[in-house]
Amino acid sequence: MYKALYRKWRPKTFDEVVGQGHVTKTLKNEVCYGKISHAYLFTGSRGTGKTSCAKILAKAINCESPIEGNPCGKCETCQKIQSENLLDIVEIDAASNNGVENIRSIRDEMVFTPNTCKYRVYIVDEVHMLSPGAFNAFLKTLEEPPTHVVFILATTEIHKLPMTIISRCQKFEFHRLSESEICFQLKRVSKLEDIKIEDSAIKQISVFADGAMRDALSLLDQCNNLCSEVINENFVREMLGIPPKESILEIVNGILTGNFSKVLDYIDNTYKFSGNLVRLCEEIIEYFRNIMIYKATGTFQHFFESNASYAKQISLKDAMLALSLLQVAYKNMCSGNNKKLELEIIAVKLCNELSKCKASLSKNPEEISVENTSIASFQEPCQEPEILSDGPLKSWDKILEKIKETSSLKSLYISLADSQAYKQKDKILINAKSSFAFEILKKQEYRSCVKKIIYEVLGKKFEIEPYNSPVPTDEKTASLPSHSDTLEDLIKRAKLNNIEIVSKQEDF
Ligand SMILES: Nc1ncnc2c1ncn2[C@@H]1O[C@H](COP(=O)(O)OP(=O)(O)O)[C@@H](O)[C@H]1O
Ligand SMILES: [Mg+2]
Ligand SMILES: [Zn+2]
Repeated sequence: MYKALYRKWRPKTFDEVVGQGHVTKTLKNEVCYGKISHAYLFTGSRGTGKTSCAKILAKAINCESPIEGNPCGKCETCQKIQSENLLDIVEIDAASNNGVENIRSIRDEMVFTPNTCKYRVYIVDEVHMLSPGAFNAFLKTLEEPPTHVVFILATTEIHKLPMTIISRCQKFEFHRLSESEICFQLKRVSKLEDIKIEDSAIKQISVFADGAMRDALSLLDQCNNLCSEVINENFVREMLGIPPKESILEIVNGILTGNFSKVLDYIDNTYKFSGNLVRLCEEIIEYFRNIMIYKATGTFQHFFESNASYAKQISLKDAMLALSLLQVAYKNMCSGNNKKLELEIIAVKLCNELSKCKASLSKNPEEISVENTSIASFQEPCQEPEILSDGPLKSWDKILEKIKETSSLKSLYISLADSQAYKQKDKILINAKSSFAFEILKKQEYRSCVKKIIYEVLGKKFEIEPYNSPVPTDEKTASLPSHSDTLEDLIKRAKLNNIEIVSKQEDF
């Protein structure tokens, strides 16, 4: 049977627990010196190792030959506890066993000596869920338990526990795991499980897991089940409903150039794409935060390369202005206001404020000196660009190959079968046999993905348009074939395939 990754990779010794050194060190010492408390309380947010440590502790204090405070994992007791068939280790979920009678049955039972172990251990999870009556009964139990009984209580909500209970336990606080601790474990697990995943994708999962290792491993599991190729960052983002990085860059670009309609379009697209506008706002905040840190210290922190080309256009003052405006929007969005409207208002405000700043930027000599320094090396793509002249595009196959490799562009790749492309000034004109390709390319997120690939291959930014279309005036309408084009194309193809066409006039 398939076992979820987070269950399969539950740490079995204190040394395997990632982070939480302040907890595991003390517990190991207690085991070493035989100073076992009669009641432990593990608190902290979910997925940080409370249940795991409770199980390890239950094993360690009963192990026949512990190794520096860790359970050996080999003796009969360790093995039996591991396979969860020992009556002396009792796991109780207080969420579903929260009545007085549940606690009474523990009291009646605990007077008997354990069957095989030295200690009978009660692990009470979600202990804050006990009813007031059950807490009272439990208090008496905790006052003088027999020496062969150990309680390990775990809770995510310690503030819901009566002080009288807390004060009778030895308390350990489990911390949220840091991004690098989660990265470390994800790398380890994916290596041992032979999961192909890029470092940037691991990082994205670690950020999203927000301190919970269980969530991080579940996400890795999900990605692995859904993705048949190497898991990359955009796949993770798509799965989590986080807009692709390119859209964030496009929004920032729109803000800096004062392109209101572009920015609003992107917000609208993201809304339709994932509905997760709070996340979008967080990403834009993170973007300006990176710029602020760079401008203030000259160092890059989690800075993705493409940031650099915009970073030089933004001054420290602008970045701080943007951040303060965005913080207000973020707060309003989180407090239940109309999220889309809040973000739109702030986006228009930013467009207004920052494009003004940018216009006067070139007069500021200080800015220019920052621009000319370390940032230069981040601007160019790593590929050797093709020498480009107008006409058939030689690198189109290379671009198609990359489209093929991008899992979200599978259907586009299929509809681009036998296609050709031509370069014309700053446009790439695509000659596709199927008009479905352009239906797909109507969507902003696909279009920017393809534009990014073209950028990676050619080393220059291009607009994309269908071949043969009239010379465009406005990007939106120009990049799409008209309805009559699509219809004609369909009729032509039907004729080629000997499909009969019947014209029908509707009566209204
Ligand atoms: N500190 C940690 N080190 C390694 N793995 C962890 C850690 N915390 C959680 N995990 C992973 O998450 C899963 C659930 O952890 P668990 O101990 O049940 O969390 P909690 O009881 O705090 O909610 C574990 O099986 C393990 O895979
Ligand atoms: Mg738990
Ligand atoms: Zn053992």
